Amino acid sequence: MSTVIRNGTIVTADLTYEADVLIEGGKIAAIGPDLSGDEVLDASGCYVMPGGIDPHTHLEMPFMGTYSSDDFESGTRAALAGGTTMVVDFALPSPGQGLLDALKMWDNKSTRAHCDYSFHMAITWWDKQVFDEMETVVKERGITTFKHFMAYKGSLMVNDDEMFASFRRCAELGAIPLVHAENGDVVAELSAKLLAEGNNGPEAHAYSRPPQVEGEATNRAIMIADMAGVPLYVVHVSCEESHEAIRRARMQGKRVWGEPLIQHLTLDENEYFNADWDHAARRVMSPPFRNRQHQDSLWAGLASGSLSCVATDHCAFTTDQKRYGVGDFTKIPNGTGGLEDRLPMLWTYGVGTGRITPNEFVAVTSTNIAKILNVYPRKGAVLVGADADLVVWDPEKTKTIGAATQQSAIDYNVFEGKEVKGLPRYTLTRGRVAVADGEMKPQEGWGEFVKRPPNGAVNKALSSWKALTAPRAIERAGIPASGV
Ligand code: URP
Ligand code: ZN
Ligand code: ZN
Ligand code: ZN
Repeated sequence: MSTVIRNGTIVTADLTYEADVLIEGGKIAAIGPDLSGDEVLDASGCYVMPGGIDPHTHLEMPFMGTYSSDDFESGTRAALAGGTTMVVDFALPSPGQGLLDALKMWDNKSTRAHCDYSFHMAITWWDKQVFDEMETVVKERGITTFKHFMAYKGSLMVNDDEMFASFRRCAELGAIPLVHAENGDVVAELSAKLLAEGNNGPEAHAYSRPPQVEGEATNRAIMIADMAGVPLYVVHVSCEESHEAIRRARMQGKRVWGEPLIQHLTLDENEYFNADWDHAARRVMSPPFRNRQHQDSLWAGLASGSLSCVATDHCAFTTDQKRYGVGDFTKIPNGTGGLEDRLPMLWTYGVGTGRITPNEFVAVTSTNIAKILNVYPRKGAVLVGADADLVVWDPEKTKTIGAATQQSAIDYNVFEGKEVKGLPRYTLTRGRVAVADGEMKPQEGWGEFVKRPPNGAVNKALSSWKALTAPRAIERAGIPASGV
């Protein structure tokens, strides 16, 4: 069986042109004029783009005393509804649990996925077992990214010595470290102070995590990565302080990537203030939403290329789960959803306003992360031989976002009431039509795990300490090596 997408305009990260796309065996078989196939999808008036890749999700994840409420079934169904055809979820060992043991849990959960997926592995503690298992995770499991939480003190947080050791291990293995960059010690201090002063509502969550907390940690992670000679990917960049650190590092020639979330780009801190408890708590996530100046900085980063990928950090909790934190904001499960809405929201508020071009839209929702994760051009491309993970995008189609019509399993939507213009007409996962004109045709278990080879992008340390302590450089400088 073959499928042809006819009369559309192909939009990739580089090019915009008119052509049909022929799909056979789940892959793109031909691109050109007047193609024919068994099944015909009409793309008149539409853009044909690589399906979105969401590099940051937490599906059915044990966290803060509960589990996030979208699992691989509802989560990937939501993804497809919004034009996303691959997710990268975080396998999260509880402190003390082996990496391979945690992966078994993720292997089990992900059998329900409707679209392709991969995993990042979180480093939540450190000893020889973790060091050893990292090699198996990379070489046998094809998981080449390791996440480090610099926040969540007392549970997931790793200290600088552990982070430095893990970053060096990543360098040896050709893997890329990721960081959740917030200074967990300062957050813990500010949270305790706010609670002691009687500030126990959800807005205090925002007060406990000012932009400096994020800027400091981003800088620290960049410097530690530089000393370890490894690239760095900074997740959920929410503010100018963090963006500034990333810009500077890139200007200096360091391979550092920043990932803003669609939530931070389009929702601001007013969501916490002058709002009822439920409204604010539903939007509690880390880092918190920021003011307009920070949002402008993030948009500028996408336009200029200093920020690389737009994600969701989809980590959905119901209102009942959020209410675990009544009387103590530090117990509100952190996280918001967005899997279904990332592409329509970014199109509406980015392309629709002229902030980014359609080609930049493809770059930041799909192609850039495919390259960073080393799955390009199998994913993130409209090229012969690539997986037919495609979205036929209707730029004129509109809807009002709301919990009543969403795929996500939770009882609200942080974008409730937003009007979007730009939605999928068709979403295809490896050639299979999973969404047609708003009608869902998902197939549980269709999704396959995508193995990723190391990408070899090991940074040369730029810091002078390495050059100066290397034996040959010491000799050149006329300092006897034995004297150092
Ligand atoms: O608040 C958030 N972001 N929850 C999900 C876990 C994380 O920190 O990414
Ligand atoms: Zn995080
Ligand atoms: Zn409300
Ligand atoms: Zn996250």
